[in-house]
Amino acid sequence: MTTLDSRVALVTGAASGVGQAVARRYLRAGASVVAVDRNPDGLARLDDSGDRLATAVADVGVRSELEAAVGTAVSRFGGLDVVAAVAGISRTGSVLDMSDEDRDAILGVNLVGVWNTVKAALPALLDRGAGGRILACGSVESVLGGVGLAAYVASKHGLVGLIKSVALECAPHGITANVVSPAGVDTEMLRTVVPPEAIQHIADTTPIARLSSPDEIAAFFEFLAGPDAGYITGSNIVVDGGVVLLNSHTTGQSWAS
Ligand SMILES: NC(=O)c1ccc[n+]([C@@H]2O[C@H](COP(=O)([O-])OP(=O)(O)OC[C@H]3O[C@@H](n4cnc5c(N)ncnc54)[C@H](O)[C@@H]3O)[C@@H](O)[C@H]2O)c1
Repeated sequence: MTTLDSRVALVTGAASGVGQAVARRYLRAGASVVAVDRNPDGLARLDDSGDRLATAVADVGVRSELEAAVGTAVSRFGGLDVVAAVAGISRTGSVLDMSDEDRDAILGVNLVGVWNTVKAALPALLDRGAGGRILACGSVESVLGGVGLAAYVASKHGLVGLIKSVALECAPHGITANVVSPAGVDTEMLRTVVPPEAIQHIADTTPIARLSSPDEIAAFFEFLAGPDAGYITGSNIVVDGGVVLLNSHTTGQSWAS
């Protein structure tokens, strides 16, 4: 297990799914955690057994609210070492059909929200000196296209470009920046956006033949936040059960078996 003893982490999207699993892993690994989300009920499900948890109700679309959460990390725990931008939303619709409001909502959380989180956290990470970690949650749609998913795909490709650039800007300060990109994760988001029969199809057509758990994704956020991950930066780690290996040419090649 990675040790994050005496590290301070801020996690967005911590009220549910992957973000909540990341916050739990960071707490188990010994970090102090500021858990951020716009949903206070979900944040209340996190356990404060060791007095190393603070919660902050904030919308990642509003930078001043994130700055206040960073302020909590500094005043309560003495600084900030790790920021994990996990909050995200998904809505479906083709480019032709999707409203500008839905497009703006998706880009506003998934791309501008990551921008805001990084920008709010950077001064505190720089104050702390070398060893800071910036992490963002991408998606298999950070590397693939998707029918009815153009805004989501654009947001997830966009954050990879953002994090690559942040990695270069931060490298001289000893701060790394990486993306973790899951495919189908068994969370509220998947159940809200995708009908049950389509969720089964996603599981069945994944080479590993199932969805991932939020904790399996959080494991990569833990490793990348830890002391052994100091030489990886600007990377997009795809954790997808093999989904990106598939394409319509290779899946039908029975002639080669
Ligand atoms: N579930 C999947 O299959 C899947 C696949 C690939 C990538 N992802 C990514 O994983 C991340 C986590 O998603 P999840 O599946 O755990 O979903 P989830 O819905 O369970 O959790 C998302 C959390 O983000 C919070 N959030 C949304 N908008 C916010 C805002 N404006 N400000 C603050 N908090 C906000 C929600 O309240 C929620 O707690 C997202 O970035 C998502 O795009 C999920």
